[in-house]
Amino acid sequence: MGERFLGHHCEWNLGSPGGWDYQRMAQELGRLSWERIKRLSGIDIKLDFDHHLLNPVPTFARMLLRAHKQRFGSQEAFIVLLAEEETLDKVGENIHFVDYLNHLPGVTAALTSPQRLESKGDTVTLEGRRITAIFLDFNNNVIVKLKKKHNLDPLISAIRQGIAVNPRGIEPVGAKGIFEVVTGEHKSLMSRTTVSRTPWTRQFYPRSTIGPSGDRILDLVEWVRDHWEKIILKPVHGYSGKGIIIGYQYNNPDKSLQQALDSGGYIVQLLTPLELWAEEFPWIDRKENRVFIKRWQTDFRCFITDAGLIGFVARFGGVPTNVGSGGGAKGVAILRSRIGVKEAIDRINKAVINLGYRAVAEIQEEIEKKAIELGFVYLLGPIMTTLRPRIITPRHLSQLQYYSKNLWEDAIKLSRLWREGKLTKFAEISEEEEEIARLAPWDGGPALICTDGLYSFGGHLINND
Ligand SMILES: Nc1ncnc2c1ncn2[C@@H]1O[C@H](COP(=O)(O)OP(=O)(O)O)[C@@H](O)[C@H]1O
Ligand SMILES: [Mg+2]
Repeated sequence: MGERFLGHHCEWNLGSPGGWDYQRMAQELGRLSWERIKRLSGIDIKLDFDHHLLNPVPTFARMLLRAHKQRFGSQEAFIVLLAEEETLDKVGENIHFVDYLNHLPGVTAALTSPQRLESKGDTVTLEGRRITAIFLDFNNNVIVKLKKKHNLDPLISAIRQGIAVNPRGIEPVGAKGIFEVVTGEHKSLMSRTTVSRTPWTRQFYPRSTIGPSGDRILDLVEWVRDHWEKIILKPVHGYSGKGIIIGYQYNNPDKSLQQALDSGGYIVQLLTPLELWAEEFPWIDRKENRVFIKRWQTDFRCFITDAGLIGFVARFGGVPTNVGSGGGAKGVAILRSRIGVKEAIDRINKAVINLGYRAVAEIQEEIEKKAIELGFVYLLGPIMTTLRPRIITPRHLSQLQYYSKNLWEDAIKLSRLWREGKLTKFAEISEEEEEIARLAPWDGGPALICTDGLYSFGGHLINND
């Protein structure tokens, strides 16, 4: 098994990516579970849960403080996290983060909705206090929507002045249609790692184009029908796995193709083979009183800022693998023993199975109790987690850092191209959204972006080497 991680990213989210605090909690749960497994089984494998890249929260906060400093220097920081009014008391991630910020020396923070901001001249305030940095928990289309109901002038002013992070000009580059130029028209500008990690992607409409292996496709719709088992159709502005059509899951291609064509705004992408990003985990069945090995799909999000890679969200579930589609999040651990990832996984899985139902049920109960204590819940309710973490090696970490740094630089280039009007056709946004994006061009300053990966770190189910 090679050491280089395998697979592709399936999307970038450059507008307002989340999950940082869910991962902090998943880490705590993963660590707790591992301590119990180790104590009860005596397994001799070293896993590291403490590396700073395994908890993105402090480094995310530092990015916001850099943004604050750029404009307000050594003045006291007042950081505001903006989310939609109806989510304010529901999204634990935002509540926890503001709490975390409030515990940092010299920092005050608040969570509020955009319509509650005030402004006088260039000074944007909340309850009379001058705001020095804002993190936006929503995308530009939400601003357009809210603007119709509320006075958002203070927010618009904050965006224009560069107080709002992420700068709104970054978002269009994250549209799923942009992948078409990453491996096509602008490939020569992109780094090798970005190109090789980007799956073949095309805007989906009746057209001719170049296929995945460089061959000419005369009729894309026809081609997709012929390659139905190997493709996925996704709405350009989709999220949480919504609207996705996975070829092999739908046995009436004609109907699905028509649906995608009728609604418009779809891309077609090559499916990353499911075996490549699936792993086996010990799982408990409380109805049948047994512990068994379950196969899960594993989605791996990398968070990147101007300081480079800052952390991950390790999701798992079915396809689509989003928490909003019923998936869960699990800890990530760095393998410190001199064995391969696959061997570590197999040994841990076996050790858990050998503990037997009763012992594992106790661990599971303890984890679930802790999960509730931590507030490990999403809009749908409690989030599930796994008994063992996702395992990566120090070499994977360096590869991911290199890949992330390149991706950040490529995003800057793409963002310039977008500003020059060269990507308009691939970003497909409304005029109003474009207007907002143009208020705050992004040139590599403080921001949090992410890339969702369907990767193997050596633990997948087929040997692809
Ligand atoms: N190219 C692909 N190959 C296989 N599965 C994919 C691919 N793209 C997306 N998926 C599945 O769909 C999920 C969501 O895809 P993504 O592109 O991140 O869209 P969304 O914006 O809805 O999150 C992924 O977690 C994965 O399960
Ligand atoms: Mg996604």
